[in-house]
Amino acid sequence: MTLPFPTVEVVEGRARLLVPDVPRRKGPLPRGDVPFYNPTNAVNRDVSAVLLARWPGGLRDAFDGLAATGAWGIRIALEASVPRVVFNDRSRDACDLVRANLDRNHVDGEVRTADMQDVLRSESFDFVDIDPFGPPTPFLRAAIAGDRPEFGLGVTATDTAPLSGTYPEACVRRYGARPLRCPQGHEIGLRILIGHIARRAAEAGRVIEPVLSFSAEHFLRTHLRVLRGRDPAPIATFTRDPDGGFHPCEPSERGSIGPLWSGPLSDREVLSRLRTTEWSRSQAVRLLDALRSEADLPPFFASTDDLARRLRVSPPRLDRFLDALRAMGYRAARTHFDPRGVKTDAPMGDIERAFSEATN
Ligand SMILES: C[S@@+](CC[C@H](N)C(=O)[O-])C[C@H]1O[C@@H](n2cnc3c(N)ncnc32)[C@H](O)[C@@H]1O
Repeated sequence: MTLPFPTVEVVEGRARLLVPDVPRRKGPLPRGDVPFYNPTNAVNRDVSAVLLARWPGGLRDAFDGLAATGAWGIRIALEASVPRVVFNDRSRDACDLVRANLDRNHVDGEVRTADMQDVLRSESFDFVDIDPFGPPTPFLRAAIAGDRPEFGLGVTATDTAPLSGTYPEACVRRYGARPLRCPQGHEIGLRILIGHIARRAAEAGRVIEPVLSFSAEHFLRTHLRVLRGRDPAPIATFTRDPDGGFHPCEPSERGSIGPLWSGPLSDREVLSRLRTTEWSRSQAVRLLDALRSEADLPPFFASTDDLARRLRVSPPRLDRFLDALRAMGYRAARTHFDPRGVKTDAPMGDIERAFSEATN
């Protein structure tokens, strides 16, 4: 098969992939019309492969709905051993490239050239992956409409600037929620994304359970279980206090953030069963370790930069700060959201006390 653009082979996980050999602009946007391959998203695919290999209840099939090169679905077939993977992209060139990559990796996959939403109107899957350019919002309704009693959903959002508060109006328009530019902006963005999915799910008589969610590079990513049900979702609005703490508030309160998902971002039980493989790069291994240790802690985190500025001290070593919080009887862990952040169940007064003790 001759492709109308030059290609180069890359190795990612267990897959050998032909990808377009074109200069890339900085950032996540595609160049021209050639199928898109972004090596910095490999951590996303590393984590999906490890997770889908141990997905609760197992998976009979998965749908790579916006496949581009087929990188995600091919890795899921090879590394997570999902028996049937269906690939789709509305671009013919992308579908040709997916076929070439399936042959190259000896994977049997079905390839559709259609609008993702049309495929989802006639077919259902145990896992649906949505990895678009920018916001995933246009695809959510169709993805959630699947008629299986329970299925998995993987959602990537690359519009982190709106979600984390750089362009708040765009976030309100797309997600119906107010973000905040602050050290916790990416966690707020991830919670706004999940809260939005929960509200779309509720419209379809569904509830969601986040299984594994994180922020990395230039994107936010969540993997969820979608189940039948009408229980109210843990959705709330918060304000950020001048001391950097958060408290729930009425949506009408001035400066309120959200509505956003206030429940767990990941399922600690599932996380504890995951096993990284020889194909997981170190960034994914570190990320999974961090997600495991912070999984049970409440929303948001203390920024040591904020604390140091406010208390006019230089930040202590993070492990000393964590030890001081634990010595006071609180739970505390580093957070993947910020290398200088600490998640804890301590109230702000004790966070400040532990911080001051750790600086001495
Ligand atoms: C960001 S790329 C996907 C990257 C890929 N998942 C990966 O892991 O490398 C998005 C792809 O979605 C395709 N696309 C955009 N809108 C679509 C739609 N409505 N239906 C089907 N494909 C679509 C584009 O042609 C593009 O190839």
